[in-house]
Amino acid sequence: MVSSSPKPSQRLFLYIAGLTGLYLAAQLFLFHIPSHLSFRWFDLLFWFALTLWLSRGQIKLPLDAGINQLQVVAIALVFLFPPWVPPLLITLGFFSPDLGQPYYTWYKDLFNRVQFGLSSAVSVLGWLFLERLLHQWGPAFTELVGAFFSTFLFFLTNTSLVGMVIHLASGAPFRKIWTEDIRWNVWSYLILAPVGLFMARAYQIPLVGHWGGYSVLLFLVLLYFARSYWEEKVKLQEAFDRLIEVLVETLEAKDPSTRLHSERVAAISLDLARALRLDESDQKRVAYGARIHDIGKLGIPDAILLKPIRLSPEEYEVATSHPLRGVELLKPVHMYLQNILPIVRSHHERWDGRGYPEGLSGESIPLQARIVQIADSYETMTAGRSYAPSKTPSEALQELEDLAGDQFDPELVKVFKSLWLAHPLWREREEFLRAYTSSASFWELSAPSSPASVLETSPESE
Ligand SMILES: [Fe+2]
Repeated sequence: MVSSSPKPSQRLFLYIAGLTGLYLAAQLFLFHIPSHLSFRWFDLLFWFALTLWLSRGQIKLPLDAGINQLQVVAIALVFLFPPWVPPLLITLGFFSPDLGQPYYTWYKDLFNRVQFGLSSAVSVLGWLFLERLLHQWGPAFTELVGAFFSTFLFFLTNTSLVGMVIHLASGAPFRKIWTEDIRWNVWSYLILAPVGLFMARAYQIPLVGHWGGYSVLLFLVLLYFARSYWEEKVKLQEAFDRLIEVLVETLEAKDPSTRLHSERVAAISLDLARALRLDESDQKRVAYGARIHDIGKLGIPDAILLKPIRLSPEEYEVATSHPLRGVELLKPVHMYLQNILPIVRSHHERWDGRGYPEGLSGESIPLQARIVQIADSYETMTAGRSYAPSKTPSEALQELEDLAGDQFDPELVKVFKSLWLAHPLWREREEFLRAYTSSASFWELSAPSSPASVLETSPESE
């Protein structure tokens, strides 16, 4: 839901106003902390220009990861200037990428400035604390640990404040936003921690000429090329994802009763993958595979796909060819779908070997496919079909348990049950559809540090 005349809700307004007050208080507090670091106005101007340049965007990485370059300069500033300077430079130097765009809003800009300012203030305080704590270990060790610690604090503050604003704007549960969409990004932040420190030291100790800025600029050229390279790569991936989305939407348009079916299957599969502690890229692959698992149904005639009564044996044979049709359909782009095609191919195999298309059994069925199979079955049972009325969540769970060891991987059913008992959002179909429709934007969230379009979401329910 994108509002035509974006206006912050009262809660959102109070939140941003409160953060602005907090930022000003932090700035005042830092101003009174004595420091041995001195600077020239030229240094201030140089780093202000860098902040402006680096805040223009972030390097996006595959699988929705992103590295914000602003945090690199924020960490460098911690080591170069007295405590009050980094948050001030970051706040004033933040350059809103929306500026000049029709969807630019002053409150989103203000929010970004103060949240980055506060994140910077917290990372400065973290460094001051650590510097005192570890000073006997020597400067090299203390600074390296300090760079990681400050980066971590920057990440924690930044993502919490952004998570909260997304919660207020979209109504999506804060814990869900933070744990599922933000938390794991910590690694892409921490990996750049030493870079901020390196930039600061390169500025202080000139390697080229008599000015450290040359080294920093050289470094920025490399960063610029890295960014361009990744941007192109990510654009390609995004175009591909959109194409797949279109295919999924076409499939759902064929059969409106399956509306948001694949989203719910993906949500359940993702929770299962997390509970099984698959690594993050595998979790993403499972969710992606869940979205497109039935793509082969595009090749099944409507007369069979939408038939309100049970299928004849011939029709059944056509319908059950959809996993292999899906694999065929996606074959030309298989290089982009590593570990995802087995989900499309094997999501109708059964634990006892009586499934299709290959009759695989037990653990010879790829784990990702077994995960999606359980999620798909639960979603289908609770959604109902034209030939079968919907089951209640408890009835659907009971059926999964009854068929554990026959149709389903018994261990996975146990994991499913433990998740189900915790009452996840996907348990009740209507509840899920309502939440999903009202908070679609948080699923699109690709980076915690830039709340993207979510601030334009009008929380009309309030
Ligand atoms: Fe299927």
